Amino acid sequence: MPRAHITLDRQAVIAPVRRRTFGSFVEHLGRCVYTGLYEPGHPTANDDGFRMDVVELVKELGSTTIRYPGGNFVSGFRWEDSVGPREQRPVRRDLAWHALESNQVGLDEFAKWLKLTDSELMLAVNVATRGILPALDLLEYANHPSGTALSDLRVANGTPDPHDIRMWCLGNEMDGPWQTGFMTADDYGKIAARTAAAMKMADKDLELVVCGSSGSGMPTFGDWERTVLEHAYDHVDYVSCHAYYQEHDGDLGSFLASATDMDYFIDTVVATADHVGFKKRSDKKINISFDEWNVWYLKEHMESQKLDTEWRHAPRQLEDTYTVADAVVVGNLLMTLLKRSDRVTSASLAQLVNVIAPIMTEPGGAAWRQTTFYPFSITSRLASGEVIRPVVDAPTYQTGRHGEASVIDAVATVDEDRSAVFLVNRDLEEAAQITIDVRSLGSSRIAEAVTLADSDVYAKNTLAEQHRVSPAANTTAAIADGVLTIDLPPVSWTAIALR
Ligand code: AHR
Repeated sequence: MPRAHITLDRQAVIAPVRRRTFGSFVEHLGRCVYTGLYEPGHPTANDDGFRMDVVELVKELGSTTIRYPGGNFVSGFRWEDSVGPREQRPVRRDLAWHALESNQVGLDEFAKWLKLTDSELMLAVNVATRGILPALDLLEYANHPSGTALSDLRVANGTPDPHDIRMWCLGNEMDGPWQTGFMTADDYGKIAARTAAAMKMADKDLELVVCGSSGSGMPTFGDWERTVLEHAYDHVDYVSCHAYYQEHDGDLGSFLASATDMDYFIDTVVATADHVGFKKRSDKKINISFDEWNVWYLKEHMESQKLDTEWRHAPRQLEDTYTVADAVVVGNLLMTLLKRSDRVTSASLAQLVNVIAPIMTEPGGAAWRQTTFYPFSITSRLASGEVIRPVVDAPTYQTGRHGEASVIDAVATVDEDRSAVFLVNRDLEEAAQITIDVRSLGSSRIAEAVTLADSDVYAKNTLAEQHRVSPAANTTAAIADGVLTIDLPPVSWTAIALR
């Protein structure tokens, strides 16, 4: 049985736990909005047509900031289509996802939904196929109190209070040839800088996110960030990172080590941003908004997408069903985001409902939790105070895709009266025996210890079997003389709450 020893030092603080780390993402894509969040006529729908069964699950998930309305969708979107009297809203083609958009849910409705879930809105503007003025118009419509043409229009449309949106994304994945209106880094950097500068003339306290690379595998990765930031550094606050992982060709060992790639990605973007900042002799630091991350079976999606030639409203798209192994990876990626809270100060699990999502729904029917729901909701509930850097002494293994990786990964958070430790065991066969020195945390009692694992690492929750996989109490956890001991099953994710 592999053994690992972890030392936790209360003084080894990385950064505060940022609530925005637990953000998510709602795109007008597939059934995320329509029959996901919004389904008038559903037995649980409220007067605004929002499914309250989904609202309850979103609250349990503990997501905080929600990025909206895309994604690739935003690059063909006219925001004006989606406000005002519903019967006058046009149906448009969404080229990004080859679907029809009815515009029956827009900014004002989505803001109402956010209030039900107590979440913050992070809004993306279309810089790909529109210009500075539509972005400024949207800002005026959304945030200006009243007394101007567009703020009065919002009031007339039934939303008297401004939305007061703080975080704005300047487009989406502008480096990707799949993006409607994709650009070179130089072109995008100039447009992003000018759009950001204009938006800050309206409100200097906005938090603006410039597009980084769509993934660390992009051929322009690194150069893209450098060039874009050379133009936009002074006007923006965040650079985005996007990363999706999947198991390739049955290589589960590599897949389970995906978090090491995320860590490398963050390192590289931080280094590039700081390099540009230094060249500019700037005091300012650009942080990372990791505003798309998840497991996504992208290869399978690319193959199936070719078959769909119809223009449909809310088709079933990207409805990945997640396994236990996927949930372990998601839990581990979230641990990495926590560990990098010094520079990753906002993140969004992509996405929230039905589309590569922790929550699934059936039209007119049930809503349920995917396997990936659990590590996210438990971490969001337990992590608070400050993130501390664990010293992990564990065996390593060789992966095909990510080099040498530790069998055990860990992170801890410490608050005044409670702390939490999150762990993964990446071993495919064997349980691991862990000892954790928790003396410096001042914790003496285990309040909760839960593990997500299964003898079938490909077990899933489905419409027919909604509760096939869920976390269980880890009864091996014990604490004596400041040392916590616990056994972690193979391919597992674990959370321990201490008091
Ligand atoms: O989240 C699904 C899609 O992935 C988003 O629309 C896009 O930004 C990314 O390529």
